Amino acid sequence: MRELKRLVKGKLNFNERISPHTTFRIGGLAEAWAEPEDADDLRGILKASRRLRKPIYVAGGGSNLLVNNKRLKGIVIRLSAPYFRRIIARGERLRAGAGASLKNLLALCAEKGLTGLEFCSGIPGTVGGAVLMNTGSTPKGEASNIADFLKRVRVMDKAGRIRVLYRKDLTFGYRTSSLGDFIILEAEFALRKARKGYVKQLLRKAVDEKRRTQDFSKPSAGCIFKNPCSGLISAGRLIELAGLKGEKNGRAQVSRKHANYIVNLGNASFRDVKGLIETVRKRVRDEFNVELETEIKVWE
Ligand code: EPU
Repeated sequence: MRELKRLVKGKLNFNERISPHTTFRIGGLAEAWAEPEDADDLRGILKASRRLRKPIYVAGGGSNLLVNNKRLKGIVIRLSAPYFRRIIARGERLRAGAGASLKNLLALCAEKGLTGLEFCSGIPGTVGGAVLMNTGSTPKGEASNIADFLKRVRVMDKAGRIRVLYRKDLTFGYRTSSLGDFIILEAEFALRKARKGYVKQLLRKAVDEKRRTQDFSKPSAGCIFKNPCSGLISAGRLIELAGLKGEKNGRAQVSRKHANYIVNLGNASFRDVKGLIETVRKRVRDEFNVELETEIKVWE
């Protein structure tokens, strides 16, 4: 692993604590933590990982992630360097680096008067993570997903080759995509022109709605479970009806505000959350005969 130190131009740390990089504030040490400077640097890390037979983990914004407390063997990559965070607007097209935050993406939409992605407001992730998971939301029961606005993506495969993939060659489902084998470098979206004031108003409304209904008072990973039946039934509603709001396991708790949130009451462990997830799944299964599936990424 020491050879990585010579090789990586960007940041490289051994035994980096993962918890501060996640919105859940849970996770142990990463054997190696790399923030490559550019695509060449990333390629170097991928090649080294193959030589060293070390698994690669891509951290994204750390907002949809539950990480084990034990030491994670392998290399965690975060695309946080300026090269991966560029956002360029040209006409109705928006090109964004995978490491750009959705927040910065939406700020540029407001500045340029581009509409379409307002449903992403209040989601704390990165562009790469959002495309990989086909992030979406269901304001007023109407589902919007990021894939609906995607034109193409630039990706790197595990061998370090860069490819451009068009929307028509990709498949997206409810919180899934066919991009799992790649590292997303950049995504291009097709939006529509609108008055800047109008876009700002939509963004404000979406954030207000989320603040009203969702729990931002404590660290969490957002919604824990997918909405069952391809998103048609609200998992939060089922969990509330099963009487689980406020249910605790150690320092993890089902939010009293939105039952599809599990919050970290402070020093919650991976096992606290995993245990609570199992309790919720069992109770919802017993009560409604519905199998809840997690929507978060778990690094065991
Ligand atoms: N509800 C309850 N109890 C609860 C939570 C919700 O009865 O504890 C009810 C609400 O009253 C509402 C319905 O369930 O009638 C739907 O709730 P909400 O509008 O909060 O939406 P959701 O289906 O629970 C989805 C996404 C959210 C996204 C919202 C807003 C999933 C799993 N969740 O939640 O995404 O922000 O729509 O559009 O798809 C996330 O992915 O992390 C996330 C939070």
